[in-house]
Amino acid sequence: MFNLKMCTFDTFIIHLRLIAGNCVSLKMVKKVTKIGVLTSGGDAPGMNAAIRAVVRTGTYYGLEMFGVLRGYAGMVDGDIIPMESKSVANIIQRGGTILKTARSKEFYLKEGRQKAYNHLVKYGINGLVIIGGDGSFRGAQAFSNEFDIPCIGVPGTIDKDIAGTDFTIGFDTAVNTAVQAIDKIRDTAEAHDRLFIIEVMGRDAGYIALHSGIATGAENILIPERKTVIEDVIKGLAEKERREKLVNLIVVAEGEEFGGANEVARFIQDRLPQQEVRVCILGHIQRGGSPSCFDRLIASRMGYAAVECLIEGRHNIFVGILNNRMHYIPLNEAVKKKQRISEEWMKIVKILSS
Ligand code: F6P
Repeated sequence: MFNLKMCTFDTFIIHLRLIAGNCVSLKMVKKVTKIGVLTSGGDAPGMNAAIRAVVRTGTYYGLEMFGVLRGYAGMVDGDIIPMESKSVANIIQRGGTILKTARSKEFYLKEGRQKAYNHLVKYGINGLVIIGGDGSFRGAQAFSNEFDIPCIGVPGTIDKDIAGTDFTIGFDTAVNTAVQAIDKIRDTAEAHDRLFIIEVMGRDAGYIALHSGIATGAENILIPERKTVIEDVIKGLAEKERREKLVNLIVVAEGEEFGGANEVARFIQDRLPQQEVRVCILGHIQRGGSPSCFDRLIASRMGYAAVECLIEGRHNIFVGILNNRMHYIPLNEAVKKKQRISEEWMKIVKILSS
């Protein structure tokens, strides 16, 4: 078997794959000349750095670049602007997304996607880079199955809940924000000998809780990926009370099955009435702020790689980083799999909080 990649006219790349003299596939893929970039789903610090990388890489290769405003909602409405190198100046350090983002209900429908496609055709856009989470990639998958516009997914979400990459853009910044907040809570918890239950984001993933909880020395970390045995939590707290260990922090992921920080606090207060219990829900502060160096770096690498993929004719691909190397998987695989939390991490939590 051998691969022959051959450019005929300027507009076509022809892939011929021959096995034992038999032609098994002949795929004609249009050369990408105009790329649209959009951010979709919840914003994440570092999305701007990714937009910058996409626009600057495309411009470097002489491609025409466009920004689609408000994610898929803007694509359905035809909210599209031309972009050049200068459009992305002075944004690498900024949180949020200059393209704005949204969760579009219309794009879930075939008619919505058809409208979006018509707008892209009007602008001549023949390649898309989608920076977002798994919901955004499901949208991209549906779109690319129906229409001839290749899509590249770049993981931008604070939740880190996507397989095929060690990190997602925004996760590192969000965890650092959570760590700084929890350190501050520890000060006041210690001053009053109180138990604090801190709720962090993550939708139905526990990575922000796990990372921030370990990094702040929390006694318990409750996450959706593991069953919460509340009696064990109570037992542990009672034992620590006996040992006069007075600062207690419990980090709860918002998607945890017991019902989140308020429920956990109510239950504990009921069972340990002598404990002073307070709740702090960190909420959307975890989504804002200047991206960390790490997030800027992975955003730059992924944004650059996404454009390279389109140029090389690698279509409907998810761009991740595994073991510090670029890692590419088909978009449909990325939407099917979830990252898994290793038992070793759970053991670390148990041993270090004893
Ligand atoms: O996916 C990012 C995220 O911040 C989740 O952690 C959280 O559950 C959700 O978005 C909150 O969404 P919204 O900003 O729409 O309330």
